Amino acid sequence: MLNKNFLWGGATAANQMEGAWNVDGKGISVADVMTKGSVSQPRQITDGVRAGEEYPNHFAIDFYHNYKEIIKLMAQMHFKCFRMSIAWTRIFPKGDEKEPNEAGLKFYDNLFDELLKYGIQPVVTLNHFEMPFYLSTKYGGWRNREMITFFMNFAKVCFKRYAGKVKYWMTFNEINNLIDTDNPFNAWTGAGVLYQDGENIEQTMYQICHYQFVASALAVKAAKQIDPELQIGCMLHFGPIYPHSCQPEDLMASVKAMDRRFFFSDVQVRGTYPAAVNKIWQRDKIQLDLTDEDLLIIKGGAVDFIGFSYYKSTTAQADQDGDFLELPNPYVPKSDWGWAIDPVGLRYILNLVSQRYNKPLFIVENGFGAFDKLEDNKINDDYRIKYLENHVVEMMKSIELDGVKVLGYTPWSAIDLISASTGEIEKRYGFIYVDITKVRQGKSGFIPKSSFNWYQNVIRTNGACL
Ligand code: BG6
Repeated sequence: MLNKNFLWGGATAANQMEGAWNVDGKGISVADVMTKGSVSQPRQITDGVRAGEEYPNHFAIDFYHNYKEIIKLMAQMHFKCFRMSIAWTRIFPKGDEKEPNEAGLKFYDNLFDELLKYGIQPVVTLNHFEMPFYLSTKYGGWRNREMITFFMNFAKVCFKRYAGKVKYWMTFNEINNLIDTDNPFNAWTGAGVLYQDGENIEQTMYQICHYQFVASALAVKAAKQIDPELQIGCMLHFGPIYPHSCQPEDLMASVKAMDRRFFFSDVQVRGTYPAAVNKIWQRDKIQLDLTDEDLLIIKGGAVDFIGFSYYKSTTAQADQDGDFLELPNPYVPKSDWGWAIDPVGLRYILNLVSQRYNKPLFIVENGFGAFDKLEDNKINDDYRIKYLENHVVEMMKSIELDGVKVLGYTPWSAIDLISASTGEIEKRYGFIYVDITKVRQGKSGFIPKSSFNWYQNVIRTNGACL
């Protein structure tokens, strides 16, 4: 049996659902200048909000104006918690102001009150794929040490204002995406940075990471000073990378590939840089702005829990240069977006991370993006139920058979919203269907899917129905 306090819920992010991108003093965020894409066409990052472009996050699903109706539906599913993020640009529209925007603060007050009215605990990410666009253009985003100060102003205002309403916080969403510098999406959404031609990209990437580690550690310290009961987590993308074969070289390639994921949690959980990364810096002559004081801050700011997302696994095959090639796993099926469906991978990663760190884990994202069909005002999403059920069963095995400590499970996503990678609403993940045409017309367009009833039952029985 799962602990009776197990936090069942659903996950979202402000920029992907709120809309109201320029309402009540909100500033432009880095997500507001990303155009719509698709599975075959990447999103573009424009140098401001340009006429004639389509920016799906501007309206998103208009959660900003519909949150009461949506929360009521989540309460019907018996949610114990709701993972969401605070849009930095609602609180500090440009990012470097001295005083926060009261209207933005008030919005989250109202939202938290509405959740708490139903006994739903907010679980809040401070920085989920967005930051003030102004900080990116004026200061160069997280290339700049000053970002630590701006982030801390934001974090402290939030902790102080909401300490009585929010206990679980996370600092940076999927911080370890930064390691993948090939895709401009990662540094843009994670750090407000676009790498320049001729730049030492690896060095800039490690510098960004370092400043964010310092900021995250300072946030942990600040939160505890405000209220020692607050629980602050890191948040990583933990798709396992298996060896492509049982050749020893492939196994080693998989270990090294996973080191790139774990580098981030090693720092945020253990409070020290792992030995391997120092070797990389020496080898590649990486020069960082990194002081002894920073290292002390990082040491003193270890997180309380490890939040992570799990969607898919992949494999690593050793190549001639001592590097690796990422290859799909031939043993597992794929979604329409090519994402591997591997429930056992969730149990595997829960075991691996728990053995590595011996800290409470929180599965703050897991889910199935699919095209849903609205027929007779109903959505039969059995494929999503199957995906989620298989993953929940593996999670329960990790808790009940393997002794892993899991705080909760918040699948992505509580409700359909804008896909981060492609900017579509058509890549749907939610328990609640969003009829965007109706919502745009100001009508009610939120329809529970079959997975809604399934999840309601799972939460009601605390997983015992599976
Ligand atoms: C995670 C992000 O990477 O995956 C979410 O934290 C994102 O913001 C989710 O939406 C699913 O990815 P996508 O690209 O299908 O929306």
